[in-house]
Amino acid sequence: MEVIIRPNEGAASELVAKLIARKLRARPQLVLGLATGRTMEHVYDHLSRLHREEGLDFSLCRTFNLDEYIGLSPDDPHSYRYYMNERLFGRVNIDLRNTHLPSGLAPDLRAECQHYEDLIRDCGGIDLQLLGIGRSGHIGFNEPLSALRSRTRDKALTPETIAQNAPMFGDDPARVPRRAITMGVGTILESGRCIVLATGAGKADIVAQAVEGPITSAITASALQLHARCTVVVDEAAAGGLKGTEYYRWIFENEPEWQEFRGQNGRD
Ligand code: F6R
Repeated sequence: MEVIIRPNEGAASELVAKLIARKLRARPQLVLGLATGRTMEHVYDHLSRLHREEGLDFSLCRTFNLDEYIGLSPDDPHSYRYYMNERLFGRVNIDLRNTHLPSGLAPDLRAECQHYEDLIRDCGGIDLQLLGIGRSGHIGFNEPLSALRSRTRDKALTPETIAQNAPMFGDDPARVPRRAITMGVGTILESGRCIVLATGAGKADIVAQAVEGPITSAITASALQLHARCTVVVDEAAAGGLKGTEYYRWIFENEPEWQEFRGQNGRD
């Protein structure tokens, strides 16, 4: 695992978008794992801009989202399918047939989850998985005590996650669906590369626990410590609880991979 600290949210999300763009240029058929949520909105703005201004090509890219609420149709403005169409897919030249999210309306949830796993496998696995981190420490909707070997399945959301996501539902927790389909921790750990983005002081405590604390199913993001190639990108605010920042900054300054990103402080 490595941690990259950027001065602000704009610079952190821009770096993540540039990492994705670099991968996509190197492999146009990239199998890209995607996340939703407020943090990712900025990444999708940057990717849309890279498409518009630099011709970043998504035409051969295939995507798999981490999760979808159960009971919401794709046309529901609160569904993650709707979010993805609005925030990214409708703004770049991706073929919608190559974009995948679990169906929250599937009559047989178990079959839907197995189908999702099969689709990922048939595409050759996820090359690069983008992840946020919830206040409960979740990745995807793998809430506390999710097995670290779990696969795609339906899960009940914690009260903490429901409260976190209530602002997207008119600040009314009662309107937030209680359950979702999510890729499992085991599914996520099989991705070739993971990039986590966390911004804002509200994430500082959970980021520190996930990165520097013990590996525990109580904080499923901590399982990423087991991943062979995981990069955590944070802004200064989200880095506020980390003890090893001096070391992380030293690595960033000295690893050849990050050379092109040094000295870039983002657009805001
Ligand atoms: C969403 C997802 C979640 C979010 C996390 C952070 O697809 O998988 O794990 O990444 O809840 O959400 P925000 O960015 O809204 O704080």
